[in-house]
Amino acid sequence: MTETEHVSPGPFVPSRYRVVDRKTENSDITTLWLEPVDRPIAPFKAGQFNMLTAFGVGEVAISISSAPGAPGAIEHTVRDVGAVSHALASSQIGDVVGLRGPFGTDWGLESLTGCNVVVVVGGIGLAPLRGAMRYLAENPAPDRKVVLRVGARLPDQIVFPEEMERWREMGVDVEVTVDVADAAWTGHVGVVTQILTELPFDGAGAVALVCGPEIMMRFSARSLIDLGVSPENIRVSLERNMQCGIALCGHCQLGPFLLCRDGPVVPYAPLAAELITEIER
Ligand SMILES: Cc1cc2nc3c(=O)[nH]c(=O)nc-3n(C[C@H](O)[C@H](O)[C@H](O)COP(=O)(O)OP(=O)(O)OC[C@H]3O[C@@H](n4cnc5c(N)ncnc54)[C@H](O)[C@@H]3O)c2cc1C
Ligand code: FES
Repeated sequence: MTETEHVSPGPFVPSRYRVVDRKTENSDITTLWLEPVDRPIAPFKAGQFNMLTAFGVGEVAISISSAPGAPGAIEHTVRDVGAVSHALASSQIGDVVGLRGPFGTDWGLESLTGCNVVVVVGGIGLAPLRGAMRYLAENPAPDRKVVLRVGARLPDQIVFPEEMERWREMGVDVEVTVDVADAAWTGHVGVVTQILTELPFDGAGAVALVCGPEIMMRFSARSLIDLGVSPENIRVSLERNMQCGIALCGHCQLGPFLLCRDGPVVPYAPLAAELITEIER
């Protein structure tokens, strides 16, 4: 055995993962199924993210969109907005990408036994919550109701519609709204808070998981608080520019948080509410 074979690759060296399947979700969102070529990453929890490398282009943080512990390939859902996300979203079956992780805090699924759960998402915000939703739908509990409220800009921006239908059949109370309808849309039109005016249970004691643009999370949190949900029981997922992913570079700092370590999932109160509001001023 040579000396180099004993050297640990270190936290900045990505594992190689092969694209074994891909699905175009809509005009700019693609889901990739990835399997390890050699060194798999450690097990993850719902809500955590990986740093994905498009070799020769760069690295970005992408949430894991499959459920923890599920057999088969690990899923990531990427919106094509810039150079790196474009390279990743354009990957074809057989291509190899890099993966470092898993990083950050999670949705705390183990704390959701015996309490009702409200999940509120905007747009691609369902990707970081998809693993949690799969877990909640597939592990029903007699003392837990699950409500999912989804907002999208346009009908063709709704992600995972077939899966939402499956969750509905499995007992989840699902409602979807769009900001702007097209001729085929027969559902609700308006922002997500308009379908968050009542809950089929008492908000007190419920836990809310919220992910989407920060302004949407702030207004959703207000609606949830009006419905009796305690601000401490609202968990939001915050995004900042991630570089190292391991609390070394400071790029992801938000107030006292390093979001790669202390986030992305943080309680809305006491700190996140203040920080989000401060940024919007
Ligand atoms: C914890 C965490 C989880 C994330 N999870 C996901 C995920 O599951 N899926 C995903 O697609 N992205 C996710 N992101 C965002 C992702 O890390 C990148 O910021 C995004 O892919 C853009 O990177 P880029 O280098 O391709 O574009 P850049 O070159 O950085 O940006 C190109 C242009 O797009 C704009 N832009 C940058 N980011 C976004 C954005 N998120 N939405 C809209 N416009 C943007 C920029 O303002 C710029 O104008 C996550 C980020 C964090 C911090
Ligand atoms: S990404 Fe470097 S400290 Fe968080």
